[in-house]
This record gives sequence, C-alpha cells and structure tokens, in this order.
Amino acid sequence: MASARSEALRETIPLDGTPERRIEGLVDHAKMRAVYVYEAPVRLWHWVTVLAMIALAVTGYLIGKPLSSVGGEASEHYVMGYVRMIHFISGYVFAIGFLGRIYWHIVGNRWSRQLFMPSLFSGKFWGGLVHQVKFYLFLTDEPRAYVAHNPLANLAMFLMFALVGLFMIFTGFALYSEGLGIDSWAGKMFGWVIPLLGQSQDVHTYHRLGMWIMVMFAIIHIYMAFREDILSKQGIVSSMVNGYRYFKD
Ligand code: HEM
Ligand code: HEM
Repeated sequence: MASARSEALRETIPLDGTPERRIEGLVDHAKMRAVYVYEAPVRLWHWVTVLAMIALAVTGYLIGKPLSSVGGEASEHYVMGYVRMIHFISGYVFAIGFLGRIYWHIVGNRWSRQLFMPSLFSGKFWGGLVHQVKFYLFLTDEPRAYVAHNPLANLAMFLMFALVGLFMIFTGFALYSEGLGIDSWAGKMFGWVIPLLGQSQDVHTYHRLGMWIMVMFAIIHIYMAFREDILSKQGIVSSMVNGYRYFKD
C-alpha cells in the first residue's frame, strides 16, 4: 500500500527544481513533503471568482424570477435595478478576473496551465481519469497522488468552468449590449452572439442554463475538495489557501 503511494508520488512530483520543502516531525513525526503549487495570483483569482460567482448566481436567479412580492412602484424602491447593477458589477469582476487568469496561464508555473489546457491527448491522463472515477465509486481504495489537479477534476474544471465561464462572458456581455446599444463597445464586440444563438430570449435561456452548470460544478467541486482532503491524505484545501500541497506518506 505504502509503496504504491510512494510509486505514485515519484511519478507525479516533478524533480525539476520546483520550490519544495521537507517538513519533518510535524504530525506524529510523520514526514510530510510539500510542493508549492498555486501561486498567489491564482489563489487571489480563485477566491475573488468564488465571491463574484455567488453574487452572479443569486442576482442572475432573481433577474429570471424577479421578486414579485416587493411592494410599491419599481421606480420608488428600485430593488430589481440594484439586483441588476450587482450582477453587472460582478460580471465585470468575473470577466476581468478570467482575463487575468488567462494572462497567468502564460506567465505562471506549470500547474497554472492545467485549467485551460488539460492533457487531453495523453493516454496517462485518461488512465488516471478512469482510476479516479473508480476511486470515487469505491471500486478501489488506493488514492493516487497528484501535485495539482487529478485528471477528473482537471477535465471537469476545463469543461464546466473554463468553457462555460467563457460562454457566460460572451452571452452576458451580449445581453448587456442590448442595454448599452448596438453602437456601444459591447454591441460591437459581443452583439453578434445574439443572432448566432437565435434571439434575445434564447440567449437568456442559455445564459441561465450556463448558471446551473456552473452551480453544479461548484457543489461537486467543494464536496470533492473536502472528500479528497480527508481520504487521500494530501492537503487539498490548504493548497488554495497557502499554495502548498502536503503529501503525508
Ligand atoms: C458565472 C457567470 C454568470 C452567471 C452565473 C450569470 C447568471 C445569470 C442569470 C441566471 C441570468 C438570468 C437569465 C434569465 O433567466 O433571463 C443572467 C442575466 C444577465 N446576465 Fe449574467 N451571469 C454570469 C455572467 C455574466 C456576465 C459576465 C455578464 C456581463 C456583464 C452578465 C450579464 C447579464 C445580463 C445583461 C443579463 C440580463 C439582465 C436583464 O435582462 O435584466 N452575466 N445572468
Ligand atoms: C463558486 C465556487 C467555486 C468555484 C467556481 C471554484 C473554481 C475552481 C477552479 C476553476 C479551480 C482550478 C484553479 C486553477 O487551476 O487555476 C479550483 C481549484 C480549487 N478549488 Fe475551487 N472553486 C469554488 C469554490 C471552492 C471552495 C469553497 C473551496 C474550498 C474548499 C475550493 C477549493 C479549491 C481547491 C483546493 C482547488 C485546487 C484543487 C486541485 O488541485 O485539484 N474551491 N476551483
């Protein structure tokens, strides 16, 4: 058991001078190896995006199903106006953060490139993905150690976050351009999305569907992060807090 884990570690921890430190005697004199995986900009981006997405999902839900119980003239209390305003501000935060994350894909460390570029053409990636599915289905109790994302997490993040996130930005700013006008910068850059997908109401529907995909991703992602943290004996959650992934062998 232990030797298989060490084997997996040898396979997945690159020995290329990555900043790394050995921590000995912290937990019952166990040896822990730590690899610096998520650099500060990635962590900052992750948590800002989490906050933006919570605001976007709540306000977006309300935009589609407005609060009919709010009394009085809309122009007097302007509740839905504020809901939309919060949505647009968080939309900008999400989109600018996304651009910043693409920049960090270019200048960041090797693990910063996994989100937008999973190793889809590698047999090892797909083998690891099948193993991970078996692990989650309790068909094997042997967790594999990965420095950054396991292949299943990586694929889910690519499909359900990176691609859907991009779709949300394009459809979001296309809808936004309806308010700003076709001559606005948003109209010029994103206006074409509306006729491509049908008409305005179709774009609303797809944008809303995108929200549910991202909400599903977030729920499963948070569950997996904690589950993996407990069952795989790796410091998963801490890696998005202080950047280090700890391996207790
Ligand atoms: C994670 C990202 C996002 C989520 C989860 C999200 C969610 C939603 C939802 C659920 C709706 C209501 C759709 C409906 O039922 O009609 C909506 C509407 C809208 N969203 Fe987003 N959105 C996101 C990103 C964006 C971005 C980046 C923008 C760009 C500014 C944006 C702009 C809009 C606009 C303009 C509307 C229509 C508002 C209206 O008709 O009053 N969204 N969004
Ligand atoms: C709206 C909610 C969330 C979204 C959309 C989200 C999204 C993401 C994305 C896209 C990544 C990949 C980062 C990259 O490669 O640059 C990631 C990684 C990660 N997130 Fe989240 N996250 C959310 C909430 C959380 C929460 C609440 C936690 C805390 C438990 C968390 C913990 C982590 C961890 C530990 C990783 C690294 C996982 C790994 O190495 O496989 N996330 N998240």
